[in-house]
Amino acid sequence: MTEAARRRTFAVISHPDAGKSTLTEALALHARAITSAGAVHGKGDRRGVASDWMEMEKARGISVTSAVLQFSHRDQVLNLLDTPGHADFSEDTYRVLAAVDCAVMLIDAAKGLEEQTRKLFDVCRHRGIPVITFVNKWDRPGREALELMDEIESEFRLRPTPVTWPVGIAGDLRGLIDVRDPEHMLRYTRMPGGSKEAAEETVPAARAAAEEGEDWERASEELELLGESGGLHDPEAFLAGKSTPVFFGAALSNIGVRLLLDAVVDLAPAPAARELADGGRQPVDAPFSGLVFKMQANMDRSHRDRIAFVRVCSGVFERGMTVTRAASGRPFATKYAHSVFGQDRSSVETAYPGDVVGLVNAASLRVGDTLYDGPRVEFPPMPTFAPEHFSVVRPVDIGRSKQFRRGIAQLDEEGVVQVLVSDVRGEQAPVLAAVGPMQFDVVQHRMEFEFSAPVKLEPLAYSVARATDTAGGEALNRSRLVHGEAMVRVKDQVVLALFPSRWHVSSFEREFPDHPLEPLIAAH
Ligand code: G4P
Repeated sequence: MTEAARRRTFAVISHPDAGKSTLTEALALHARAITSAGAVHGKGDRRGVASDWMEMEKARGISVTSAVLQFSHRDQVLNLLDTPGHADFSEDTYRVLAAVDCAVMLIDAAKGLEEQTRKLFDVCRHRGIPVITFVNKWDRPGREALELMDEIESEFRLRPTPVTWPVGIAGDLRGLIDVRDPEHMLRYTRMPGGSKEAAEETVPAARAAAEEGEDWERASEELELLGESGGLHDPEAFLAGKSTPVFFGAALSNIGVRLLLDAVVDLAPAPAARELADGGRQPVDAPFSGLVFKMQANMDRSHRDRIAFVRVCSGVFERGMTVTRAASGRPFATKYAHSVFGQDRSSVETAYPGDVVGLVNAASLRVGDTLYDGPRVEFPPMPTFAPEHFSVVRPVDIGRSKQFRRGIAQLDEEGVVQVLVSDVRGEQAPVLAAVGPMQFDVVQHRMEFEFSAPVKLEPLAYSVARATDTAGGEALNRSRLVHGEAMVRVKDQVVLALFPSRWHVSSFEREFPDHPLEPLIAAH
């Protein structure tokens, strides 16, 4: 219980280029990184397109792309799980959120809420994950602070409750006011000698007012206004996903980062009892249980390893223990347990609730699996998310259709892609659905090298999926007025209606008001 209470397990949700890696580096710099240097990916590494990624996996022999960075701050242990973005954005990015207790939503001060942030926020809302907001790049011209607060409130129906507030507009940051101590201003000055890190100085209000004049006055007035309209941090509303404490800063210059780190320790929840499939809850002090939230296949042909990323949900994990896989009742030996830090792997001996361990040789495990020791428990199944990319898949050599079918079925089962079929296209031409296009590259690679059945992919011009019923699907397939197509998702038999754009969704709804269309998780 003591170890669990010390853990904070979180992820950063953001749109590419908002500054996620810069912030991660800044957090690790402030905190004491438990792992060795080099755990944080540099920008150069992440620029890699899909093919580079494959090469990288092959070169390393074992794939560990989803990094977990563990560091300590004020005697707490923080686990920061990476949410792959850029070319790596995929269903896995969403799945990472099944393994965290809190998210830091990173917003570019000039751009406000962006597409990938919206999608990831949807998943947080669906899972009831509390969100802390960090408005980044305040050292550069951007939008007004109040305007950004309005955007969060109106678009996400999430009440912003600033904990820090900027003195000076974006691009002319004079300092930050910590709302809990409005009698002071925190001033940041660049260090001489080219160091990026800014020094922090506490300036009493009277001096700040004299030195900053209008900027100080304006910030104080804005804060008063926010206080009057109920804009102060409210722990209950935050934990219920109804409000978000907001911080301002500039990750690049390390401004506001310490306050954010403190917030993760002070405001983010420690691991708590987790919901079970049977409606019960698994307390953190129960015997060991863990959730497999991501599987990574090795891309090396001669080394068909799988690594399973497991979030410890209850009890203590000890390397070497034999656990049970709930889905099959079979034992799984954890002789090769690794804590997974960036690109390094080191053996882990003990892990506590909130920690992540990587299990190698895990070919028998699947995403969403529950592992346990002691009485049988099972967590609810991992949801599937709204795909946005669709491709018809065919074997290059029809003589290998048996291997083709086996491979596609396995990739579906592993959750690498979702497989859809339709009467119209026939079973010979299944459609693969993915959240991110890189999932297709993985399919192509594994079909060729693992299942010896190279495939051709033909992209379809759909980008929006909605769930419907059989009649709704038939109406869409018959319609000459609405552009779209219905298919059945093999895994759960849900009928998906696919459309080229959201505009076509509206035209379906106008044309067929009796057929419901349900958004899928993270659907847009
Ligand atoms: P990402 O992981 O979210 O994709 O973003 P990343 O950290 O790579 O940051 C994207 C760009 O934004 C980088 O610039 C980075 O230096 C810049 N950036 C991040 N935080 C801040 C900040 O607080 N203030 C300012 N002014 N810039 C920030 P780049 O030009 O794309 O890369 P680089 O050539 O500078 O490395």
